[in-house]
Amino acid sequence: MNGSGSVVVTGGAGFIGSHVASLLQQRDRQPIVLDNLQSGNPSNLQRDVPLIVDDAGRIDAWPTAARNASAIVHLAAMPAVQDTVERPLESHTANFVLTQHLVEAARRYGIPRIVYASTAAVYGNTGQAEQHEDDATDPLTPYAIDKHAGERYLRFAAEQYGLETVTLRFFNVYGPRQNPSSPYSGVLTQFSSRLIRNQPIVIYGDGQQTRDFVYVGDVAQVVVDAATQASRWPAGPINVGTGTSVDLLQVVGVFSDLLGRAPQVQHEPARTGDVRDSKANVDRLHAAWGNTPQTSLRDGLHALIDWMQTPAQG
Ligand code: UD1
Repeated sequence: MNGSGSVVVTGGAGFIGSHVASLLQQRDRQPIVLDNLQSGNPSNLQRDVPLIVDDAGRIDAWPTAARNASAIVHLAAMPAVQDTVERPLESHTANFVLTQHLVEAARRYGIPRIVYASTAAVYGNTGQAEQHEDDATDPLTPYAIDKHAGERYLRFAAEQYGLETVTLRFFNVYGPRQNPSSPYSGVLTQFSSRLIRNQPIVIYGDGQQTRDFVYVGDVAQVVVDAATQASRWPAGPINVGTGTSVDLLQVVGVFSDLLGRAPQVQHEPARTGDVRDSKANVDRLHAAWGNTPQTSLRDGLHALIDWMQTPAQG
């Protein structure tokens, strides 16, 4: 199915979703953004992107959104791991039950395809240098448990209802438009936001935890291809990372280079449920997409810092 219909983007006014919506437009595919604006912001969107302000789980929101839609990109979520540790019931609703509602909407309105944003957090601590999609999963937090359940539910929906599904396991996505004022935003947003104000950054634990940081522009390309070029994408989970990882102390080094000064660092105890090492095996992504994310950490951080310094963010 390489249809030319519109693409419903849940969470499309948010960080990753707004990049997906822009790219769909650039590729002459109509995005329809469905977002309750709890964490999303309309200012992330170009003016001519249709925005339905509603909860993606409310079935009444769908008749308008679903008209002529050939795919749903499901990005609406409660994405901050520590937030879900504090508010596990809200995580269950936002990160799992919502996915069930989407499957119902797809069935009811005949939308054939769902691209689902899962997470590398489903692996937990594998003890391995890199994570492969066939590795055993060990989700350690409400966020990871609910996202994992969503993966399984989509597998059920594919088998039972014949929906086409693509499950993407995002590693640590970073870049412009992640909310700099949220305490739950990712580490690179936290670091950038503090450093441009000359404030010290905080490292939880020893700073030797590793992450596979993948630039949001690259992620948007993967998502849009998965939504619009169905045939090449397998239903099983696909890692979306770069295939390389760095530890936080190395990240501090890149910031030092970019800013021309050494950041001040405070150390605090490691966080509950924090994964130690995370790096994507990207063979399956390469087979499906024909490429792997290419933006270097240095270039991506440069773009992030630039965006943060634009007047609208200050
Ligand atoms: C992140 C994503 C999550 C995604 C997962 C996939 C965010 C907010 N969370 O979780 O949605 O599914 O990757 O791997 O983007 N840290 C500090 N100082 C800070 C902030 C964080 O030292 O100021 C540390 C954390 O303790 C952790 C690491 O940096 O060890 C990364 O944390 P964070 O960016 O919050 O992301 P993850 O927990 O990896």
